[in-house]
Amino acid sequence: MKLSEILLLGKLIGACPEGEFKLSGMKECRPYLTCEDINDIKIRRKINSGMSKMVLHAKWKGHSLAYSIPNKNYPDRMGDFRHNASMLKKLQSKHVVKLVGQCEDALLTEFHEQGTLGDFVESSAVYKEMNLRERFKLAHRYLEILGFLHDSPAGTRVMCDTNMVKGTVKQYLVTKDNDVVVNDLDDLRLVENGEMEGKICGHAEFLFSRPDILGENFLAPEQRPSKTRRTISDMPILNEKIDIYKVPAITAYLLGDAEGHNDIMDLLAPIHQACLRENPSKRPSAGLIQKAYSKVLSRF
Ligand SMILES: Nc1ncnc2c1ncn2[C@@H]1O[C@H](COP(=O)(O)OP(=O)(O)O)[C@@H](O)[C@H]1O
Ligand SMILES: [Mg+2]
Repeated sequence: MKLSEILLLGKLIGACPEGEFKLSGMKECRPYLTCEDINDIKIRRKINSGMSKMVLHAKWKGHSLAYSIPNKNYPDRMGDFRHNASMLKKLQSKHVVKLVGQCEDALLTEFHEQGTLGDFVESSAVYKEMNLRERFKLAHRYLEILGFLHDSPAGTRVMCDTNMVKGTVKQYLVTKDNDVVVNDLDDLRLVENGEMEGKICGHAEFLFSRPDILGENFLAPEQRPSKTRRTISDMPILNEKIDIYKVPAITAYLLGDAEGHNDIMDLLAPIHQACLRENPSKRPSAGLIQKAYSKVLSRF
C-alpha cells in the first residue's frame, strides 16, 4: 500500500498519524500536547494512585484527561513509569488508551469515566444491568487485546503485572461505549525466541511470600513454586503463554453472576481446557481462542 493510501485509510477509520491524537468532538488530529500547552491544562482532583503512578483528573479545552506523574513513594518504579510511556507511544491503536501528550515526566491520556475494567465489574450499575452476551463481549475484547499485544508492532509482548484476577482487570479501562482498552503497560515485556526479557515476572521473590496470590491459582503453573522449584533461580523462563493460562479465570470473572454463565462456560470448556494445559507450548494462541469465542458469541 502507498503512503498516501495508508494516510487516507487512517483518516477513514479515525486513526491519527504517529505523534498526533484526536479526542471525540475534535475535527482534526493534532500533535501531542507538550510543556508549551501546560497553561491550557487545568489539573483537578486526584483520581487514584498505584505503585508507579499518581493519576489526576485534568481538563484541556473542555476535554477530560488523565494526568499521570510518577508516584514519589516508590522511586524505584521510575523505570516502569518510563517504560509505560514508551509502550503507549509504540502501541497506539484502538486497543490501547489514547496518548494525548507528555511534559517531562507527566503523561496525558484520555480520561475514561467508567474507570478500570475491574472497578466496572465490581461496582458499576451499567455492568450490573449487562446481560450475558454484553458481558461476554467484554471477554471477547479482552482476548482481542491480548492477541494484539502478543503480535504487536513492538514484538510479542506479555503482561507481567498480572498476579491476581482483580489486579489484572484493573490494568484495562472501559470506554463510554463499553469498549475495553489496555491502560497500564508498566510491566509489558518483550518475548524473543520464546523467552521473555527478565525471564520471570517482576519482583518474583515477593510472590513466594504471598499465600493469597498463590492460593488463587490464577498464575500459570510455570510461575508458581513447586517441590522442585523452591527458589527464584529454579524458575523457568516465561513467555506469552502465561497470559493464555489466565484467560478462563478472566472470562469467568467478567461474566460474573449473569444468567447463563454456566451454559456459556460449558460451551467454552474445550478451548479453556486447552488454555489450562501444563505445558505452555501446548496452549492455544490468543487468536485461536478469539475464534472459538466468536463462534460461541454468534450462538447467543
Ligand atoms: N485514563 C484513565 N481514566 C480513568 N482512570 C484512570 C486512567 N488512568 C488511570 N486511571 C486510574 O488510576 C489508577 C492507577 O493507574 P495505573 O496506570 O494502573 O497506575 P499504576 O501503574 O500505578 O498501577 C487506575 O487503577 C485507575 O483507577
Ligand atoms: Mg496499575
